[in-house]
Amino acid sequence: MRIVILGCGYVGLVTGTCLAHIGHEVVCVDTDVARISALAAGEVPIYEKGLKALVAANVAQGRLSFALVLPELDSSIDAIFIAVGTPAGGDGKSADLSALAGAVEDIAQAASASPLIVVKSTVPMGVCDAIETMMGRLRPDLSAEVVSNPEFLKEGRAVLDFLGPDRIVIGTDDGAPNPVLEAIYAPLAEAGVPIHWTGRRSSELIKHASNAFLATKVAFINEVADLCEKGGADIRSVARGMGLDARIGPAFLEAGPGYGGSCFPKDGVALLETAQTYGVRLGILERTVASNLQRRGGLASRVVEAMDGSVDGKRIGVLGLAFKAGTDDCRESPAVDLIGDLIALGARVVACDPKAMPYGHPALNSLALALDPYDCAQGCDCLVLATAWPQFSRLDPFRLAQMMTGRTIVDLRNGLDVTGFATAGFAIHGVGRRP
Ligand code: UGA
Repeated sequence: MRIVILGCGYVGLVTGTCLAHIGHEVVCVDTDVARISALAAGEVPIYEKGLKALVAANVAQGRLSFALVLPELDSSIDAIFIAVGTPAGGDGKSADLSALAGAVEDIAQAASASPLIVVKSTVPMGVCDAIETMMGRLRPDLSAEVVSNPEFLKEGRAVLDFLGPDRIVIGTDDGAPNPVLEAIYAPLAEAGVPIHWTGRRSSELIKHASNAFLATKVAFINEVADLCEKGGADIRSVARGMGLDARIGPAFLEAGPGYGGSCFPKDGVALLETAQTYGVRLGILERTVASNLQRRGGLASRVVEAMDGSVDGKRIGVLGLAFKAGTDDCRESPAVDLIGDLIALGARVVACDPKAMPYGHPALNSLALALDPYDCAQGCDCLVLATAWPQFSRLDPFRLAQMMTGRTIVDLRNGLDVTGFATAGFAIHGVGRRP
């Protein structure tokens, strides 16, 4: 199959590379000159495990290439995937669909045959219908087919998720299987991946509702963690005990600093807005969004409390900047919220992360960056674990004790060995358990 991908961001790049890997001929197109030049030179602009090697292998085998402009979309092109960003809009609510509309205009201009447009970008329910209408208006001489095919990739595991997903969801006009999409995903279907064929609106909603449901699971366990702290239970044990029930499942029950990233926060708010346009109230999701905002806004208070009431003038080391381990992505990162709030409270903050750099966050201008966790701990009154990188859980408490002035640790990910740190004289303030 010959496939064009529009948008070489996180989703487009992983999708294009993996589609090439399963045997298709893929051209990834992006208007960002620096990004395309980097990719053409073998540089992958994001950190995603396994991606760089996969890009190099598929470029070398001639199945994957990069371009700044769309090629002519004639009948030799089997499908055009749209994977441009749909970030939160300027009002902080509705998804900004301007890049998507631009992509549709570009397709309309480049098409010399009726295109099959596959929408990978996360969009509110009804957008595929709108794209079909737009194509009909721009190119009445063609009859474009529009299919919804949402992605369920987790940053840090995206390549594995693409090649071995729990399911592939494809929404078509009439809900019936589309032969081109069947052929594109045949290698994965033959390996046993279930394909869920449905209508376009259902497919679009499956994506938003899945993210909202998982976000709700996280917000719920975080509220239960608060109760554990007050009542003397241990959230890790509570979550384990709950997760053993197959109806609940163990995933997404890790209490922590609140959910972040480029998806859960924006998708929750976007789904609320979609529901509102249909006059439906998603009260549980409203509560999830509010609960998570409150949690992230209260992270600095946890540190203040652990420091007996003030962080003013204190040196605080923060381990982790990315919104979760395994990625260099700092978008909507609880660690970044926390650091901004600590600085505003007068703390001197130093941070380190194995991969992430918080570019473009004005609140973090006075943040000092350390080379590694031990360098970060040097002279600190308190250390905070904000991102659960595995290397942080292997830190030597005695070596840290030599570096630090104070003995307070706030573990927002429950990633540190409490007993080991206690032996070295530390008091660990975890989440959902008492020190
Ligand atoms: C999420 C979904 O999991 C993917 O299926 C989806 O494709 C993606 O959004 C998207 O829409 O593109 P991602 O944002 O990469 O993936 O990250 P997750 O691993 O889902 O974590 C989201 C947030 O929840 C993170 O801040 C994480 O730290 C937090 N989390 C997750 C917890 O606090 N506790 C948990 O038990 C699990």
